Amino acid sequence: MEYNPDVFRDKTILLPCDDPEWSNFTKYFALNFEYFGLKKLISTCYASEETPQAHPITFESNAPQFDAEKSVTNGKILVLERKAKSLKRINFKNLPWKYLEGNGDFCSQEICKLRDEADFIITNPPFSLFRKFLTWILEGKKQFLTLGSMNAISYIEVFPLIKDNIIWLGVESGAKEYLTPTGENQKMGNTCWFTNIEHGRRHQPLPLMPMADNLKFSRHKEIKGKDNYDHYDNYDAIEVPYTDAIPSDYDGVMGVPISFIDKYCPEQFDIIGITKTWFGMANKTYPEQIQVDKNGEESRVTKLNDGATIRRETIPIGETYYIVDNNYYTQVYARILIRKKQ
Ligand SMILES: C[S@@+](CC[C@H](N)C(=O)[O-])C[C@H]1O[C@@H](n2cnc3c(N)ncnc32)[C@H](O)[C@@H]1O
Repeated sequence: MEYNPDVFRDKTILLPCDDPEWSNFTKYFALNFEYFGLKKLISTCYASEETPQAHPITFESNAPQFDAEKSVTNGKILVLERKAKSLKRINFKNLPWKYLEGNGDFCSQEICKLRDEADFIITNPPFSLFRKFLTWILEGKKQFLTLGSMNAISYIEVFPLIKDNIIWLGVESGAKEYLTPTGENQKMGNTCWFTNIEHGRRHQPLPLMPMADNLKFSRHKEIKGKDNYDHYDNYDAIEVPYTDAIPSDYDGVMGVPISFIDKYCPEQFDIIGITKTWFGMANKTYPEQIQVDKNGEESRVTKLNDGATIRRETIPIGETYYIVDNNYYTQVYARILIRKKQ
């Protein structure tokens, strides 16, 4: 909204996982209906006998349209529409919701029809269905804003879309607190917004220091005082353990934390790949390894091929390491591989 105050003007928004009576998304868009200049707001929710609603049905059972049977088998729908000049004042105590024909599954024909009618799909979907949900949105060629787990960044279905700048993270994608429908604050650090709505912030380049300055002045002990950044053994890239330690003047590929995506500016860097999924990019396959954990316990594993590795000259102390042909290796966390825009 800050970037484009008219982003929702004359548009139809579908909230497809949002109980008209409970969802704060529904409340937010209903309250701001006029301010955003919306044409139509549709909020639908899912009913299933296997997964009962997470909240009490007190509002629903007090409503004149309540039907005890349909309440467990049929989803609900609320449609707010701008008629004539303005929307009538919304009475939140008596929302004009109805039961859907079906259960409100976003994949059902009934909801697909509503998706096709909408300009924007916005919600907090069930994270377990995130892949399916994103595919469903993109099939409909819609603009969207959805919450998801940070882990979704590395999904095979999601990462290529981020790499190719088809989708990106929304603003405020770090650790967060959410207000639950019952008014409590819930901390959900590992979540972020996924979107294809332009927001401007993603075009602001990260302020960074040259490599020599990082090695001399970095606030991170892993960098400061070293001769060089570590280089991976199984891919031609340097290891950058913190986003603010990315050297501004390095032309090769760099492995950076997944959380970099939140700061990613496509005019500053290209995304080359991701080490967790690799997409066939690693240039080496290790045979079975001996893993020595922090307590010195040994086991035979093949894990070293799952991520970027660093060959160590001496036995690493206080961390898990791997032995292959009398060489010592450590594995770094999942990394995004990036390169300075050429
Ligand atoms: C994480 S909750 C978010 C609820 C709501 N967006 C809010 O913020 O209050 C996810 C919701 O998706 C609903 N859901 C689960 N499976 C669904 C499906 N196949 N289609 C549509 N909604 C579904 C659940 O009933 C649940 O209410």
